[in-house]
Amino acid sequence: MADILIAPSVLSADFAKLGDEVRAVDTAGADWIHLDVMDGHFVPNITFGPAVIKAMRPHSKKIFDCHLMIAPADPYLAAFADAGCDIITVHAEAGHHLDRSLQAIRALGKKAGVSLNPATPISFIEHVIDRLDLILIMTVNPGFGGQAFIPAMLTKIAQAKALAGGRPIHIEVDGGVTADNVAAIAKAGAEVMVAGSAVFKNNDASAYAKNITAIRNAAAHV
Ligand code: DX5
Ligand code: ZN
Repeated sequence: MADILIAPSVLSADFAKLGDEVRAVDTAGADWIHLDVMDGHFVPNITFGPAVIKAMRPHSKKIFDCHLMIAPADPYLAAFADAGCDIITVHAEAGHHLDRSLQAIRALGKKAGVSLNPATPISFIEHVIDRLDLILIMTVNPGFGGQAFIPAMLTKIAQAKALAGGRPIHIEVDGGVTADNVAAIAKAGAEVMVAGSAVFKNNDASAYAKNITAIRNAAAHV
C-alpha cells in the first residue's frame, strides 16, 4: 500500500491569519495543503481565489493541492497556475469539456485532477483516465466543511482505484474524513486524505500535529 498523505483543508483555518495557519499545518506534518476554491454558483458557498492563494504561497514549500469548485473553470486555470498551485483539480460536473480542461492544466505544467460529486459515477472519467494525475472522490456534497462522510462512497473509492490500475494516479478523498473512518477509506484504496475540521479543530494550532498524527496512525491500521 502507498504511503498515506494528509492534506489539511484551509477551509477550516482562521481566514484572518491564513499565512500563520498554513505555516502551522506545514510544521505540524501536513504533506499537502488543500485549497478549496468556491464560487457561490457551482457550490452554495464562496471562499477565495488566486490572489489569496498567491499570498499563502510563500508560507509553505509543500504541494498546493487546489480543488476548484467553480463553473466555468477553464478561464481561471492559468491564474491558479500562476498563483502557485501544483495540482489543479476541476469538477467533472463543472463544464462540458472535461478532456479539454485536463489538457489545459497539463499544458500549464501542473498536475491535473478531476473531482466527482457523490452522485457522479466513476464511469464518467473512464475515457480521460490517461489525462489524470489525481482522482478526488467527494465523500460529502461539496460546499462546506464539517459534514458527515457518506459511507456509500467507499465502493466508489475502490472503483477509482481499479480504474486507475497501475497508473501513477493519486486517489484522494475529501469530506468528513476523521481518525475514526480513515482506516476504512485507506482500505478501500485511497491514499490522499483531505481533512478540514479534523485537523483545524477549534483553530488550536498547538493540536494540529496531534490531529494530523491521529489520522495518519489510524490510516495505517488497515
Ligand atoms: C468541502 C471541501 C472540503 C472540506 C472538508 O466542499 O471540498 O475540502 O474542507 O472539510 P471536512 O474535513 O471538515 O469535511
Ligand atoms: Zn476540497
